[in-house]
Amino acid sequence: MSQQIQTMFSNIAPTYDQANHALSFNKDVQWRKDAVRQILKDGFKPNRVLDLCAGTGDFALAVKAQAPEAQVVLADFSKAMLLLAKKKTGVAGGFEILGADALKLPFHDMAFDAVVCGFGVRNLDNLEAGLKEIARMLKPGGRVAILEFFKPTGFLNRLAHAFYVGAIVPMRGGAISGNKQAYDYLQKSAKNFASLDEFMRLMEKCGFKDLSVESKTMGVAVSLVGIRK
Ligand SMILES: C[S@@+](CC[C@H](N)C(=O)[O-])C[C@H]1O[C@@H](n2cnc3c(N)ncnc32)[C@H](O)[C@@H]1O
Repeated sequence: MSQQIQTMFSNIAPTYDQANHALSFNKDVQWRKDAVRQILKDGFKPNRVLDLCAGTGDFALAVKAQAPEAQVVLADFSKAMLLLAKKKTGVAGGFEILGADALKLPFHDMAFDAVVCGFGVRNLDNLEAGLKEIARMLKPGGRVAILEFFKPTGFLNRLAHAFYVGAIVPMRGGAISGNKQAYDYLQKSAKNFASLDEFMRLMEKCGFKDLSVESKTMGVAVSLVGIRK
């Protein structure tokens, strides 16, 4: 499965940013910015931040914009995505870029003060193992910010999802990328993913506490920050 996911993301890499911004009506930029503000709350100043499933690097750039002193490491298993990230982060210093599988990260325990992961965990073959790997990366008191599309619950949330993730995403994403299959996958993976409640329970089981949640655009996306126990 992960080989298929890797190939799929590499195939859509050239149009990934354009599709993202078009699909979210540019809201994704604000979602990442807000998630960074949420993780930096109460004067938290991370020295080393991991952008996991970094794609083309937009989350890493959002971190750097609000925490300019932080060293930001971008990890992803798609070389095509990372090549674009390299171009985007290349002019500024303070970034490291690394090809790596989120389930087997090549870092020692507690290597980071913070981890951000935008629309990445939904793609992992083993979600629990992925969350435990994030926990392993963090020092006690370190923070994680996860931005994700969860399985919708409740009437309004289901309606917003059906409109955005169910209709707009496959239609516009397919048209922009020329790869309707990839954007059908996005829709299905969100529908089949954990609900926010299930995900929060799993985070607590995997070593996180004090979870804070911000709902984005009628709950279409959710930003979740947790602290490593
Ligand atoms: C939807 S994109 C998100 C990119 C970026 N974080 C953002 O906010 O736009 C998901 C990314 O996760 C990466 N990915 C998925 N599974 C992964 C895994 N097991 N290990 C490393 N990267 C993975 C894909 O290659 C892709 O670049």
